[in-house]
Amino acid sequence: MAKKITIFDTTLRDGEQAPGASMSVNQKIEMALALERLGVDIIEAGFPISSPVQFEAVNKIGQKVKNSKIAGLSRCTKEDVKAVYEALRDNKNRVLHLFIATSPIHRKYKLKKSKKEIIKTVTETLKYAQNYFNFIEFSPEDATRTELDFLLQILRTALINGATTINIPDTVGYAIPHEFGQFIKKIFEDLKKTKDFTLSIHCHNDLGLAVANSLAAIQSGATQVEVTLNGIGERAGNCALEELIMSLKVRKDIFDVHTNIKTELLYPTSKLLQHITGFILPRNKPIFGENVFSHESGIHQHGVISKKETYEIMKPETIGRVVETLVMGRHSGRHAFRNKLKQYGISLNKKEFERAFAKFIEIADKKKEVNDEDILSIVSSILGKEANGYKLKYFYVYTGNSLIPSATVKIIKGENEFISASTGDGPVDALFKAIDSALNLKPRLKEYVIQAIGKGKDAQGQVNLTIEIEGKCLNGKAISTDIVEASALAYLRAINRYYWQKMFF
Ligand code: KIV
Ligand code: ZN
Repeated sequence: MAKKITIFDTTLRDGEQAPGASMSVNQKIEMALALERLGVDIIEAGFPISSPVQFEAVNKIGQKVKNSKIAGLSRCTKEDVKAVYEALRDNKNRVLHLFIATSPIHRKYKLKKSKKEIIKTVTETLKYAQNYFNFIEFSPEDATRTELDFLLQILRTALINGATTINIPDTVGYAIPHEFGQFIKKIFEDLKKTKDFTLSIHCHNDLGLAVANSLAAIQSGATQVEVTLNGIGERAGNCALEELIMSLKVRKDIFDVHTNIKTELLYPTSKLLQHITGFILPRNKPIFGENVFSHESGIHQHGVISKKETYEIMKPETIGRVVETLVMGRHSGRHAFRNKLKQYGISLNKKEFERAFAKFIEIADKKKEVNDEDILSIVSSILGKEANGYKLKYFYVYTGNSLIPSATVKIIKGENEFISASTGDGPVDALFKAIDSALNLKPRLKEYVIQAIGKGKDAQGQVNLTIEIEGKCLNGKAISTDIVEASALAYLRAINRYYWQKMFF
């Protein structure tokens, strides 16, 4: 029988560590429910000790998700372990993900600990953790740059003291597939003499090899793979869930394995994440990119018309890229709207649903057809609203090719009003400067992307931007039929995120 590969998804922990990817608690819950529906076996929901917001998110996800195990990250300290336990106390399937760095460079410059001290810390923490958890995963951070003999020593220690899963992280994406495969084989052969355990791998994508390394590890005995949807994560990201799953499926002749992932839900779940994080995928991104099923050259078009498989190794419907037939507009009722949300695995509570529906009607009044992208934007902005943030009351912009662009804004927060005006190099620049001056802030605009959502002249404009305040990157995304308004809303959203993080992190 084909071997089962456990999918451990860390979109909500390692993925969220990508600069600008932080999500609100409600957004994380919605994403966790979508990942559960997708068939992920273990969802790493966050790092509870790191902030009250992280704790709350892990706790709520642990209460709502029923079919996937929920993991929480922990350093090797009793306080961290206790925080994961407290967050997941009522969840019988809770998983503790315990990590400590083991490579020489991390030992010397980060931990400032000897090998002996690290072994002692791991032993003590695991002994303590065993009282609270049935499932314990141990990760030696930067394993691929750790001396093999020391790595094996610490992994044996972990197994003897209660770890049930050993996870090998290629933390800095340093490994090369063939080498990584051999490395995993050696670890597997050695450790299986100690006791039964699950061998997991966790690959980063700094050299673009995260998926290739994960596949090599599966061939060498790994039965759990850690992934993120859309490959989001620190720096170049993590092994992309969709790329791994489709490699296993398309090349079943090589990998005789199966997973619980429902591939037809991959695309809708990815779309939800794209809207929540505001990260737009490149057109050529494997599996989900806009160009993946389009053919430009005449020869290719001819081939595909005669037989799709000449240039397509998978079917769009296998990953849920179906053409929408239901046109949503002003006359669509709550039932149709709810159905559309269901297609994306979105289950809003009553209050959120009513707010989303009201926004949908507002947009439908402005444009004839409301497409899926519009609806996902509505949902992500409703889930992402941070209470008590700055709100845009009004703005005026004067612009033209023969005058200096200027903007006036009025922003409110509770009872307080902030009004200011400014000129700029263009209407958006003037508007951002007016907001800076009203709020007495000086963010640095690092990234600004504007994109039409849907087709035709009535398409809405979506603005994704990243600002930097005090060295922190903050993402903002907004959508409107007016691109200047979308810019102001996205900018304010990023600023609100700054205050929100400042409050909690
Ligand atoms: O990349 C890494 O090493 C990690 C660990 C916490 C597993 O994310
Ligand atoms: Zn990682």
